[in-house]
Amino acid sequence: MRVDVRGLHKYWVLENVDLLVEKGEFIAIMGPSGSGKSTLLFLLGCLDYPTFGHLYLDDVDVTQENENVREKIRLQHIGFIFQNYNLIPTLNAIENVTLPMQLSRVKASEREARSQSLLRLVGLEGKADEMVNNLSGGQQQRVAIARALANLPGLVLADEPTGNLDARASKEVMDVIRTVNENQDITTVLVTHDPKVASYARRVYYLDDGRLRATVI
Ligand SMILES: Nc1ncnc2c1ncn2[C@@H]1O[C@H](COP(=O)(O)OP(=O)(O)OP(=O)(O)O)[C@@H](O)[C@H]1O
Ligand SMILES: [Mg+2]
Repeated sequence: MRVDVRGLHKYWVLENVDLLVEKGEFIAIMGPSGSGKSTLLFLLGCLDYPTFGHLYLDDVDVTQENENVREKIRLQHIGFIFQNYNLIPTLNAIENVTLPMQLSRVKASEREARSQSLLRLVGLEGKADEMVNNLSGGQQQRVAIARALANLPGLVLADEPTGNLDARASKEVMDVIRTVNENQDITTVLVTHDPKVASYARRVYYLDDGRLRATVI
């Protein structure tokens, strides 16, 4: 999916943000706490409306669409990965991965096959029946990545995906995110405080004082 942000404003937080991310690109956004990184990611994910400005996802101006349409776009085309995993604790790993497919009415046989292959992709084929609370942080985040990919999105948004992980689990998670980006041509926008994590991206931006700047790496 191509992401084209034009003159995006969010009062008190974002000022005239322009950003173009081509299909399949991987970018990172850094910046101090409170600078609006999560706010920008929420706008990209159609979880929030800007005060003004436009966001085109594959040439559709989603700022002009109603909540019904935006909900469909979120479910079908965008995968979210959060710092705290946001898994459903009463479900096991594979049920967490399958859930978005149920919401989008994927056939049961297809759901099963796709969930298994996604768990394999993130290296958790042996943990399908494990309750997610019994998994390590790194494993939970990899379940969350598999869930983000459930409906074969064109865009993945990750907000501090390694924020709660040690160096080794961070590397495992980032290797999976990179593989997904490279092998499946999924546009990836990642927010992080960690320069090592940001270095996985092809381009790094810096958000400060409401303004987004490209950095040289
Ligand atoms: N629900 C809210 N109501 C009012 N202000 C908010 C709300 N959420 C965030 N803000 C404000 O918006 C600004 C940007 O917040 P945001 O969460 O986007 O920053 P961030 O860059 O993601 O920070 P962090 O690195 O700590 O996650 C901050 O000044 C914050 O206080
Ligand atoms: Mg944040």
